[in-house]
Amino acid sequence: MVRTFILKSSEGRTAPDFSLKSLAGSGGRMDLIARCIIATFATPRGIRKDAILSIVLEGPPNPPITFTIDGREFERKVIGEVGAAEVLREALAGRTTKGVRVERKSFEKLIRELPRENLYYLHEEGEDLDRSIIGKNPIFILGDQKGIDEKGEKLLDEVGAKRLSLGPFSYLASHCIVIINNELDQMSIGD
Ligand SMILES: C[S@@+](CC[C@H](N)C(=O)[O-])C[C@H]1O[C@@H](n2cnc3c(N)ncnc32)[C@H](O)[C@@H]1O
Repeated sequence: MVRTFILKSSEGRTAPDFSLKSLAGSGGRMDLIARCIIATFATPRGIRKDAILSIVLEGPPNPPITFTIDGREFERKVIGEVGAAEVLREALAGRTTKGVRVERKSFEKLIRELPRENLYYLHEEGEDLDRSIIGKNPIFILGDQKGIDEKGEKLLDEVGAKRLSLGPFSYLASHCIVIINNELDQMSIGD
């Protein structure tokens, strides 16, 4: 079973011009993006192979860009935030490595291309997470510090994404990924 996460990053930079030394300071919330990469793939045993992360970068100067890491092929070690952001910066500069893709693709195009079953929009006011409702190869869509805008929500409703809640409190996007990874790992024990 492969789990996919899609992060809609309303401010994520679309050029390799951000500083690795100041991920939070150079704009675009590249710190949040780096943390989502770590949350999706980093384990003490190395890179998680059963996960895919797509980040739709909608910030200046050249939006939209969809950056994807496919853990099934990805061979780089990413432990810290700087290492994670480096993979993105290199890809934006045209130096992609195995398992890494950069495409000129908007959130709408990406969402419309997805299979419609097993699509989940992570939302505080959704249905409570219950492992029994999660289908095979689930796709989880989440927002950044601003959440998902009205247009994005309309689209998700239109394609039938189920709203799924991890509880009444708002969590960081990267923490939501960790929670989902843990839930799915527990589901797959004994598979
Ligand atoms: C930091 S939160 C966004 C908070 C933002 N102020 C808002 O109003 O949406 C980032 C993303 O994590 C997900 N999220 C946060 N808490 C959640 C929860 N309790 N249940 C489900 N998803 C959650 C949502 O997808 C949200 O867009």
